[in-house]
Amino acid sequence: MDQAVLITLTVNGVQVTRRVEPRVHLVDFLREELGLTGSHIGCEHGVCGACTLRVNGDIVRGCLMLAVQADGCRVDTIEGLSDSKELERLQKAFHEKNALQCGFCTPGMLMAAQDLVRLRQKVSREEIRSHISGNYCRCTGYQAIVDAIEEVING
Ligand code: FES
Ligand code: FES
Repeated sequence: MDQAVLITLTVNGVQVTRRVEPRVHLVDFLREELGLTGSHIGCEHGVCGACTLRVNGDIVRGCLMLAVQADGCRVDTIEGLSDSKELERLQKAFHEKNALQCGFCTPGMLMAAQDLVRLRQKVSREEIRSHISGNYCRCTGYQAIVDAIEEVING
């Protein structure tokens, strides 16, 4: 039986209306229905942070939120924040500090980092580590990631 629900949301500034099954997670909807594959899927149970998105201004786990829960919401993905140049300083700092290797964690890491950039004028390394503690990186050892975020916030 078709239980699809009609939802309308604004994704990266564009209004989108689709019929979705109630069980579909938001990150799967974005990747498979809209082709926005910048948000990655790792653990699929809220641990790794690879799927980090922004919904109505707050970062969320795209694997823990259903697409139907985003009905009427404003959703921003790594693609939108990158195209708008909101992430430009962080992307430059990550590049210059070698804050990525395989890059799998990087979209989620940048979304979490930008959340801190928006919130804070000055920040300690401990606060940076705490803020990104829900974003796992298997490659870098985090040092360079913290360096990059610290440079953007503290200058
Ligand atoms: S895939 Fe969502 S937190 Fe890991
Ligand atoms: S750069 Fe490979 S997981 Fe972070």
